[in-house]
Amino acid sequence: MPCEPYKSTIKRSPSQPLIYLPHTLSEITGPVYGHGEIGETDNDLTRQHKEEPRGERIIVTGRVLDSNGRPVPRTLVEIWQANAAGRYVHIKDQHPAPLDSNFTGAGRTLTDENGAYRFMTIKPGAYPWFNHYNAWRPAHIHFSIFGQAFLSRLVTQMYFPGDPLFAFDPIYQSISDEKARERMVSKFDLETTQPQWALGYKFDIVLRGPEATPFEP
Ligand SMILES: [Fe+2]
Repeated sequence: MPCEPYKSTIKRSPSQPLIYLPHTLSEITGPVYGHGEIGETDNDLTRQHKEEPRGERIIVTGRVLDSNGRPVPRTLVEIWQANAAGRYVHIKDQHPAPLDSNFTGAGRTLTDENGAYRFMTIKPGAYPWFNHYNAWRPAHIHFSIFGQAFLSRLVTQMYFPGDPLFAFDPIYQSISDEKARERMVSKFDLETTQPQWALGYKFDIVLRGPEATPFEP
């Protein structure tokens, strides 16, 4: 790998023996979502402010599937991402790239009865970080998928096809199986692409099984 390993892997791994904590009711039950709780522009990150954000408009859509390829309906899908310049709205992000007052970078939606979700957003920019000298993250969108209980939340990152930074990114490269890594990369899709408006990307999320999307521990 032409980059240093992800430093935080060591910092984030347990240094003490594990303690067994039995689950209580609040952990084995989960939220019941209705369409009422999701706002009209929650899945359109380009319409959450007075004006349109700057950058390349994109559509990101796909399905949430279980290990047998069955759709997972009415599950909460949340995303968060940097703006077109590679900057997050976060106090810790001091990357000298402009913030965009018309872009928060957070969205959520429920899958429909076919397990499908859809977001309209802006293509995020690559951004530098301090893992090693000249470290840059490939453009990505963070995804969270809620399961049937509060503890069954899965978090992953979606990438864009053909990114030249893949070979230099220790987070992307931390998935050693090449096929599994490729399942985190969305596919450009002309059918999803809206004429005169936005490019479309397909990203299916498989929760379990041999074809599972890699998730963050
Ligand atoms: Fe990120």
